Amino acid sequence: MRAMTRALTILGIETSCDETAAAVLRYEDGKATLLSDVIRTQLAEHAPYLGVVPEIAARAHAELADLTVAAAMNASGLTYGDLDGVAATAGPGLIGGVLVGLMTGKAIAQAAGKPFIPVNHLEGHALSPRLSEDCPFPYLLLLVSGGHCQFLEVRGLGDYRRLGSTIDDAVGEAFDKVAKLLGLGFPGGPAVEKMARDGNAKAHDFPRPLLNRPGLEMSFAGLKTAVARAAPGAQGDAEKADICASFQAAICDVLSAKARRALEAFDAGAGEKRFVVAGGVASNAAIRASLDAAAAQSGARLIAPPLRHCTDNAAMIALAGAEHLAAGLGDTDGLASGARPRWPLDEASAKADPVFGAGRRGAKA
Ligand code: KG4
Ligand code: ZN
Repeated sequence: MRAMTRALTILGIETSCDETAAAVLRYEDGKATLLSDVIRTQLAEHAPYLGVVPEIAARAHAELADLTVAAAMNASGLTYGDLDGVAATAGPGLIGGVLVGLMTGKAIAQAAGKPFIPVNHLEGHALSPRLSEDCPFPYLLLLVSGGHCQFLEVRGLGDYRRLGSTIDDAVGEAFDKVAKLLGLGFPGGPAVEKMARDGNAKAHDFPRPLLNRPGLEMSFAGLKTAVARAAPGAQGDAEKADICASFQAAICDVLSAKARRALEAFDAGAGEKRFVVAGGVASNAAIRASLDAAAAQSGARLIAPPLRHCTDNAAMIALAGAEHLAAGLGDTDGLASGARPRWPLDEASAKADPVFGAGRRGAKA
């Protein structure tokens, strides 16, 4: 029988990219219940620049952080005194925004006399399926977002092993770039997906980089370049739709082939094989469908968090904070933690693998 644990109520704060978010979560006996979940997106501020502008993001977070936290606390019906801890993203991400969330979280924790838990944003995504599903460890995770594309074995809380990642662009970044090339606005992912529905996926034979190479490394820069060559020739919406559909098909082929390979390499033990896809790109229906097919072929179950928790949110940060607090991490001094623009989940693999990019300032995420 599983031991009953004390219920924990945690405020989570997320400010690492272009969403200012706060959530209050109750965590009891391994089960999460959201008491509030506020997400304020800055899309309108960044849209004129066709991408996230770090300085604009930092200012917007500074303006919105207090209001967003207050809205989440109000919606939860609780006071700061009712909390058992405060968790905030401490990296990786755009440093200005990370600092805003981290300082807001530390200030609240200190004023209320509660533990502060610094959270790795990637760990938030990694644990996000556990917000709404019974998803015990271990599971295979594909994290696909604007900044990341990697396969991770999630073996337990704080126990992550990177199996492979992109050696250049992240998938979301490629979607954003393709949208920019075709004048579809920002964010690119949803615009390209919408356009792709009316296109012919066989119109362009775009490359599937590293598809037939062994291993789980991925690359999307060449695909992006091929789209850049084709884009000037696209006159109307029909031709743009063909490019979008052909590009998306190439992404689906690469991700599903690598997913099959990752599922073969992943040791789930005796139980069910679980394959989780998380990150903003996981909201793409065509990509989900091809990953679903790959999972079925490999005898695994695909688990995708609801759309709201695929993209950046504070519920996943609160959950990561709660799980760490429940595991005893709250005993360490979270207030002494700093903001980390780079912070890989699997630091050992990141340091050992030069392709992954150790970088002068430490391993990249
Ligand atoms: O996880 P996320 O909200 O932020 C981080 O990067 O951490 O992911 C945002 C990324 C953007 O690049 C966006 O274009 C992409 O996810 N995205 C999509 C879709 N919705 C969002 N990409 C493809 N298809 C979509 N439907
Ligand atoms: Zn994210």
